Amino acid sequence: MENFDVAIIGGGPGGYVCAIRAAQLGNKVVCIESRGTLGGTCLNVGCIPSKALLHSSELFHKAKKEFKNIGINVGEPSLDLSKMMGHKSKSVDGLTKGIEFLFKKNKVTYIKGHASFVDKNTLSVTDNKKNSQKINFKKVVIATGSTSVSIPGIEIDEKTIVSSTGALVLEKVPKKLVVIGAGYIGLEMGSVWLRLGSEVHVVEFLDHITPGMDREVSDNFLKILKKQGMTFDLSTKVVGIKKTKNGATVQVDKNGSRSEIECDIVLISVGRKPNTEGLNAEKIGIKLDSKKKVIVDKKYKTNIENVYAIGDVIDGPMLAHKAEEEGVAVAELISGKYGHVNYDVIPGVIYTSPEIASVGKTEEQLKESKVSYKVGKFPFIANSRAKVNDESDGFVKILAHATTDRILGVHIIGPDAGNLIAELALAMEFGASSEDIARTCHAHPTLTEAVKEAALAVDKRAIHF
Ligand code: FAD
Ligand code: NAI
Repeated sequence: MENFDVAIIGGGPGGYVCAIRAAQLGNKVVCIESRGTLGGTCLNVGCIPSKALLHSSELFHKAKKEFKNIGINVGEPSLDLSKMMGHKSKSVDGLTKGIEFLFKKNKVTYIKGHASFVDKNTLSVTDNKKNSQKINFKKVVIATGSTSVSIPGIEIDEKTIVSSTGALVLEKVPKKLVVIGAGYIGLEMGSVWLRLGSEVHVVEFLDHITPGMDREVSDNFLKILKKQGMTFDLSTKVVGIKKTKNGATVQVDKNGSRSEIECDIVLISVGRKPNTEGLNAEKIGIKLDSKKKVIVDKKYKTNIENVYAIGDVIDGPMLAHKAEEEGVAVAELISGKYGHVNYDVIPGVIYTSPEIASVGKTEEQLKESKVSYKVGKFPFIANSRAKVNDESDGFVKILAHATTDRILGVHIIGPDAGNLIAELALAMEFGASSEDIARTCHAHPTLTEAVKEAALAVDKRAIHF
């Protein structure tokens, strides 16, 4: 039986980053991954393939609808879906192999197989040929991530009733796609298929989309998506899905009134659950919460001294960069160093068009916690670069403390919002005020000037609006 200082279960952004950092710090490290490839949900069936399709479908849409507005005539573009999918797969393949290379470079042992606890110092690892081996370790990090959930009583077959995984590999463009759940996955994957030609109808349980997001942004986002052609049934409950010869019928209930929606494909995107089944975690005494997430303290330690957990399998936002930060922090903590994640400054981005990005508190959260704040807003319609790029939907909204001017939250809906938010996250890490941003020279003509103007607007002195 081989002995390791640190064993990591799961090779996603939490696990693989943790493995590399722990090895850099001089530990003998093993990472066990059951999928057959490294990179976890993120690289294989999440962030990366979805962004590949978002990018390609946006270019297709632009070539079809927008190029002619700026004098580029390309005729009617046609879609080669299998080539688009091929490009996506090639990108995924290259990136997952890149992590194998990084493991070799950092001398991390990579074992393909499913790990389960034998006791608090031993894992049993079974490969896909059912061969088992035992691994001995001093410390272990559970980074097993999450998988999609369905609606009670509805089975996902990944053909007609799909999760995000099935929605990433559809073989033809559905005539009509019903999306259940107006969150991250529903709106990103809905956008992909809308741009490629589907009629997309979203059914959401709540009376608004993207719960948890600043409400002004969320309401604006809904209007823009409707303008793009997506249709919505809000405050609507799905009560059943029946498969038919050509697709499915979704039965919905809106304020007690029932109706049916016919479609070819149904995407269920109503959240994800932690991967704690089959780990034997509870059998060795590791405590899980009511949602089966691993309970950890501020240093990612479970109730068992040498067992840690990070990423989607513990509490907090299910985001790749949050998992990565935790991977680094736990590797440093278990190596006797200082490791820390600032949960007040974790950006969130929805990669639709326009993009949505936020960091820190929403206006609703500030109201609820009775913090007095000022708002500075600047619309992209008044930003020269957004205007010439013909991407002027949306705004930057900065929330700053009423007396100290410290930035408390930033919410952006607009072009390249996912990149723009980085400046604000850095500013918040440094405890910056909105005046700090307002006094910083931003290059012209860039979208970043909208951030500077929003900061000026906190003090009611925006120049261009
Ligand atoms: P995972 O990435 O889920 O990795 C865990 C790994 O552990 C898996 O590969 C699994 O096979 C393995 N595993 C599980 N159990 C065992 C076991 N017993 N033995 C061995 N191996 C095991 N986040 C973003 O920040 N940005 C995005 O743009 C984004 N887009 C997304 C799009 C989609 C469609 C989806 C589904 C998710 C997206 N996410 C995005 C979320 C992101 O993918 C996750 O938050 C992130 O992957 C979590 O990382 P993790 O390491 O905790 O877990
Ligand atoms: P989500 O939590 O983002 O959204 C789920 C939506 O479904 C919510 O609006 C919820 O109100 C609704 N809902 C729940 N039950 C319902 C029901 N029975 N009927 C109708 N609506 C219902 O979950 P989603 O979209 O599945 O994504 C899971 C997670 O993956 C996200 O929370 C996010 O952490 C991560 N992700 C991140 C991305 C990014 O960073 N760009 C992209 C995709 C996923």
